[in-house]
Amino acid sequence: MSYVDVIDLAYTYPDGTQALHGVTLSIESGEMLSLIGQNGSGKTTLSKCLNGLLLPTSGNVVVDGHDSKSSSISDMVRRVGYVFQNPDHQLFNPTCRDEIAYGPRNIGIREPEVTERVEEAATVVGLGSEHLTEHPFFLTKGLRQRVAIAAILALRPRVIIVDEPTTGQDARQAREIMGFLTTLNREHGHTIIIITHDMDIVAAYTERILAMAKGTLIADNSAREIFSNPAIMERASLAPPQITRLAQALGDMGIHPGVLSLDEMIAAFEGS
Ligand SMILES: Nc1ncnc2c1ncn2[C@@H]1O[C@H](COP(=O)(O)OP(=O)(O)OP(=O)(O)O)[C@@H](O)[C@H]1O
Ligand SMILES: [Mg+2]
Repeated sequence: MSYVDVIDLAYTYPDGTQALHGVTLSIESGEMLSLIGQNGSGKTTLSKCLNGLLLPTSGNVVVDGHDSKSSSISDMVRRVGYVFQNPDHQLFNPTCRDEIAYGPRNIGIREPEVTERVEEAATVVGLGSEHLTEHPFFLTKGLRQRVAIAAILALRPRVIIVDEPTTGQDARQAREIMGFLTTLNREHGHTIIIITHDMDIVAAYTERILAMAKGTLIADNSAREIFSNPAIMERASLAPPQITRLAQALGDMGIHPGVLSLDEMIAAFEGS
């Protein structure tokens, strides 16, 4: 049994939209992976099933040996944290401190420990005490993203799902947020699932990809395998990262079609 086991999961919204069907996958503790697929493919719905916000219509989600159908929502959110696609949909408290404290208070953590958790989460995401007294609304988008992540971290979940963390941010901010998520994975041992449409981010930061199309999982493999498989990329309606596309265009020169970085490209030229 893995830390997360999804078994033949289907989810149908109350209006009849069948958002997921036949999804089976496993995630080990300590992994950092990408969840990709075009708009409407089911990424957000799957994430909400993983943290118990949505319960399967059929099939099962089992986290740390606990089935979401027989666990309370507060038990689920302690194990899997979900940072919303738009942090502004998640932030609603008058100060960043209250925002980060909200989750732990809500699951019945007592006040001295709430304070401890707020300080710890703020430190991990790099928010200073001057930020904690601010209204989240007055912070930059990058800082609001950090508050949203800190609010999830304060629940101390082993798994953190971050929905589109770099959308609407410039290249420097995107690198910063991805660097920070990598630190959470490598130094703090969190399992990180990144939902993104940015294939350059996928290639640079994650080895394993879960690819979705039309509510099903169409591939679960390494970035190298998936990006060099045109049939899967077409089914997912996605294009490989720029550097991989360049390598594929240079295939006649013996360059491997699964090149993922500039360094690999240079090495391929030196070796060819
Ligand atoms: N609350 C809802 N009620 C009914 N249908 C919904 C609801 N939320 C999502 N859907 C539908 O479920 C399917 C999967 O949507 P979901 O939001 O999980 O996709 P996604 O992969 O996260 O897309 P995006 O990349 O646009 O965020 C889509 O057909 C969508 O229209
Ligand atoms: Mg989504």
